[in-house]
Amino acid sequence: MSSAGKSRSTGDPILVVRDIVKRYPNGNQFIDVLKGISMTVRYGEMAAIMGPSGSGKTTLLQILGLFLRPTRGTYLLAGDDVLKLDRNAQASVRGQRLGFVLQGCDLLEKTSVYENLEYPLIYTRFSPNKRRERIHLALERVGMTHRINHDANKLSGGERQRVAIARALVNLPEVILADEPTGQLDHKNSHIIMEYFAEVVGKGDTAMIMVTHDAEIARHCQTIYHIEDGVLKG
Ligand SMILES: Nc1ncnc2c1ncn2[C@@H]1O[C@H](COP(=O)(O)OP(=O)(O)OP(=O)(O)O)[C@@H](O)[C@H]1O
Ligand SMILES: [Mg+2]
Repeated sequence: MSSAGKSRSTGDPILVVRDIVKRYPNGNQFIDVLKGISMTVRYGEMAAIMGPSGSGKTTLLQILGLFLRPTRGTYLLAGDDVLKLDRNAQASVRGQRLGFVLQGCDLLEKTSVYENLEYPLIYTRFSPNKRRERIHLALERVGMTHRINHDANKLSGGERQRVAIARALVNLPEVILADEPTGQLDHKNSHIIMEYFAEVVGKGDTAMIMVTHDAEIARHCQTIYHIEDGVLKG
């Protein structure tokens, strides 16, 4: 399944979620961690999600990333009802249509920077030449070309973060989901990365949803949501 070929333009919705509830059992009761989240994110849009610890930010991101099923609600990705898909089809959506910057980076250790970026491209139809080109371009944009053959486990925390960001973008995802993508970067690099995101997303082929605790970083986004006690406030 793919949205390729569908006509669209900047400003059209790419991600539409309605009334997402996530309920966990808690003894003989339950807790609703998300209590009816609705949001619409458009091509070319960067949206930030802010909120106190335990408010449900990561839970929401995991649902949008199809790592976690909500108790109820709908989720349309470029019009496709992705919650109705089976696990395999969801895995292929994750690999081909979503890009992730997870907390802690999760790079493949003892594997080169180049191979880390090549990994998401295995699921695409890019030719070997096109893959190389995309990898070089993505690394260039995060200022990491000089470390292309370095083992991931020999990088600094900030360098790892930059490689993780390049990896999230290398397969040109429709939606980038990022949990504190600048969490380990200094002020200067944080803003460089946000400008890179803005440039990539601003082209209108993709959108980004990021969790951040940093109001200054959130200002790079057109939309800032505040989540509190499982409820979204625009
Ligand atoms: N499997 C689970 N069972 C029960 N409760 C859970 C489960 N997973 C998460 N929670 C609860 O859901 C709430 C939201 O968790 P979540 O990780 O989404 O918060 P967060 O907003 O990302 O917080 P932080 O800023 O600390 O990362 C928390 O109160 C957490 O304890
Ligand atoms: Mg979290």
